[in-house]
Amino acid sequence: MSEQASHSSFIKTPKQLITVVLLAFVVPIIGIVMLVQLVVNRPRVDAAAMSPDAVAERIQPVGKVEFGEPGGAAAAARSGEEVVKAVCGACHQTGAAGAPKIGDKAAWAPLLKGGLERLSANATKGQKAMPPRGGLENTPEAQAELARAIVFMANQSGGSLKEPAPKPAAKKK
Ligand code: HEC
Repeated sequence: MSEQASHSSFIKTPKQLITVVLLAFVVPIIGIVMLVQLVVNRPRVDAAAMSPDAVAERIQPVGKVEFGEPGGAAAAARSGEEVVKAVCGACHQTGAAGAPKIGDKAAWAPLLKGGLERLSANATKGQKAMPPRGGLENTPEAQAELARAIVFMANQSGGSLKEPAPKPAAKKK
């Protein structure tokens, strides 16, 4: 009796023994079942998300050029304000790199004298720190965006330029 007591365990009765043995089987099995569930029920890829159209939309480049009728393409093109915010503002919002700051009437007054024509010509070429077209692409659409951006900037800075009317449909060759 005393020997039995010396290496006593917490299992004292047959009932406890059965419980422990059962648990020793059941607990790992529950663990395995849960693991299997985890693997099997992994969130599925939505079939619609894998369609070529959806994929193309996700991986499209940041900028794209659209050709088409002005009603569609021109309407989709960005407004002067949007272009300024997205592209030109980096320099012209802060006056970084010596750019004439938007709203700085004194800086713009001499520039405005030449009108949109001259501003556009200079902005298209680029000068000093300003890259050609302020970094916009060399396409008719981008050129139109550039003009609208110049008008927006100039008019925020004491100018009263008119946005050039959208060009009639591009000639088909
Ligand atoms: C990397 C900086 C930078 C970006 C981006 C930039 N500009 Fe400029 N821009 C300049 C600097 C610098 C000048 C002044 C150049 C000078 O002093 O000759 C300038 C000058 C101009 C002028 C005056 C041209 C003239 O007649 O002297 C216009 C108009 C203009 N930018 C329009 C734009 C537009 C529109 C955009 C966006 C599409 C743009 N800029 C983006 C730096 C920038």
